[in-house]
Amino acid sequence: MPASADGSIPRGGPRIALFVEDDGGDWHARRLTRALEARGAIVVTTSLNRCAFDTRLTSGLDIPGFQGGLPEGAFVRSVSAGSLEQITMRLGILHALEAAGVRVWNNARAIERCVDKSTATWRFQRAGLPTPVTRTAEGHDAAAAYRKERGTLVLKPLFGSQGNGVKRLSDGDELPPSEEVGDVYYLQEYLRGPDAATFEDWRVLVSCGRILSAMKRRGRTWITNVHQGAEPVVHEPDDEMRDYALRAALAVGADYAGVDLIRAIDGRLLVLEINSNPAWKGLQSVSGLDIADALAADFLVDVANRVPR
Ligand SMILES: Nc1ncnc2c1ncn2[C@@H]1O[C@H](COP(=O)(O)OP(=O)(O)OP(=O)(O)O)[C@@H](O)[C@H]1O
Ligand SMILES: [Mg+2]
Repeated sequence: MPASADGSIPRGGPRIALFVEDDGGDWHARRLTRALEARGAIVVTTSLNRCAFDTRLTSGLDIPGFQGGLPEGAFVRSVSAGSLEQITMRLGILHALEAAGVRVWNNARAIERCVDKSTATWRFQRAGLPTPVTRTAEGHDAAAAYRKERGTLVLKPLFGSQGNGVKRLSDGDELPPSEEVGDVYYLQEYLRGPDAATFEDWRVLVSCGRILSAMKRRGRTWITNVHQGAEPVVHEPDDEMRDYALRAALAVGADYAGVDLIRAIDGRLLVLEINSNPAWKGLQSVSGLDIADALAADFLVDVANRVPR
């Protein structure tokens, strides 16, 4: 039973706000909408940048399509890029929705912990999960000194995704100027030997404390994101992978998440990364599971049972 952002909401199943990019939902949003509606939900697709705080409303929140009322659940497909002020306000809306009793997937706290790679890495370490040697600090000169000490390193944008902006710095490579990285240098040991010919890592999709699906990503270059052209290959995770993926999601408080695992040269498995708004198109291409439907099912159970947290 679809409802548009400006139309009235019919009576029926739980009302869900699906937050997408302002220019419209992507493949994932369309899949998710179909799956949620097939399970009886009423989905209003909108964008966080269209939401407002408004003291004239009883809820104090103006979510397009809800006429001053609130949804029962909110699914965040995208927060969208924006200024520091815009992102702060959008996360404020998500915090407020959660505080008002709306089940938000993933909630603002989990998004904040995942989107800032340094915080995610710290939470992995604190949870006792093996993760690559990483130092995140401000300042070009301090980063240059650290680099001299450590040899080949990987530099990542603090807010990067899909492999964009990830750089390998070998001896002689210049460290990018501070404007390019917002003066924050996330520097990590490079986990491949100089003669590596095969590049692979694993993506494990977790939801509600269980593994939904997993794949190996085989790349022609060392950056093995599907978005960068790596080939997804179906993979049955072993106990260690399962354990690390579930604990990584728990460490950041994510209801669902894409966890990246990688092997060091000596064969040790490490938790590389976690994504609180994971894409699953590549994974869906090799998985027998209807991923959108599995996520929709878990989310709607959580919406139905929601207890304050
Ligand atoms: N320290 C490293 N050593 C070797 N390869 C790495 C290292 N860090 C990242 N890579 C490769 O680069 C890819 C992208 O890195 P990473 O997953 O950290 O960032 P991202 O994909 O941009 O962020 P997100 O996973 O949040 O979307 C990894 O999948 C992996 O193949
Ligand atoms: Mg990644």
